[in-house]
Amino acid sequence: QHRIILDCDPGVDDALALMLALAAPDAIELVGVTTVAGNVALEDTTRNAQGLLALASRPDIELRAGCARPLMRPVGYRSKVHGPEGLGGIRLEHSATLSDQHAVDFIIDTVLANPGQITLCPIGPMTNIALAMVREPRIIDAVREIVFMGGSAFGPGNSTPAAEFNVYVDPHAAHIVVSSGAKLTMFGLDVTRKLVATPERLARLAQAPGHAARTVVEMLVAYAQGDPCLHDPSVVAWLIDPSLFTGVDALVEIDCNTGPNLGRTLASVSTRHLGDRKPNCHVVTDGDVERIFELVEARLRSLA
Ligand code: BDR
Ligand code: CA
Repeated sequence: QHRIILDCDPGVDDALALMLALAAPDAIELVGVTTVAGNVALEDTTRNAQGLLALASRPDIELRAGCARPLMRPVGYRSKVHGPEGLGGIRLEHSATLSDQHAVDFIIDTVLANPGQITLCPIGPMTNIALAMVREPRIIDAVREIVFMGGSAFGPGNSTPAAEFNVYVDPHAAHIVVSSGAKLTMFGLDVTRKLVATPERLARLAQAPGHAARTVVEMLVAYAQGDPCLHDPSVVAWLIDPSLFTGVDALVEIDCNTGPNLGRTLASVSTRHLGDRKPNCHVVTDGDVERIFELVEARLRSLA
């Protein structure tokens, strides 16, 4: 059983990741959801998270809003593939009020209160996690592990030739997290690029009954026109069934130098490149794509 905080910027693929986490009570306890600016502005990612929890009839899940901008990079670099408000043109209703507590404080308090138990799952820019580590370094030892979507260890980026979106938005935050010493598992474009929601797969997902599943698949259909890959859901699929994926241990570093390599994730694997340095991260590179889509479909069906 994984007890997780899902740190997200919904975002259509974030929305699916959240739904999968809620659909897997056998494997995942969703201790809380925290939001960050990324795909769209913080007020949008937060409203979307509120709407998604309402859609799933889970207003009981703890939700906290986090950082409205990256640590150092300019404000306002957004994704173009999730629609203007982030959910593929769909606006969700909700009636929940939001706690005043900041996401960074929620992360710190929850991790320190449950030493060795909480898995942090950032699936947007890692600003909240980095700031939590800066403010309270004891969380680095107290966290069970960090499983994140971001980067591209052995291939090109999607925001620039070098950089994947989540790392490109806040490379300094990513640097703080990957160099922290916490146990890390990375889902970069290496694997998520392979999880392509083809029209056939989308048509199968669209058969899932119930309003929540239907609505999320409707978002996915819009999103797939700009980016057909299930990036963020890969993290949740791995928590549910790690046998679906394979990877390598590597030393991952973030290029924070201004220039064409800004936000590149550099992965050293061979001893020639590592020297006497040690890997800091398990980099997932491949997955059984058919079985992953079967898992997504089965879990969406179970929401009804
Ligand atoms: C990542 O960028 C965002 O657009 C997605 O939600 C995902 O987290 C993929 O590069
Ligand atoms: Ca995301």
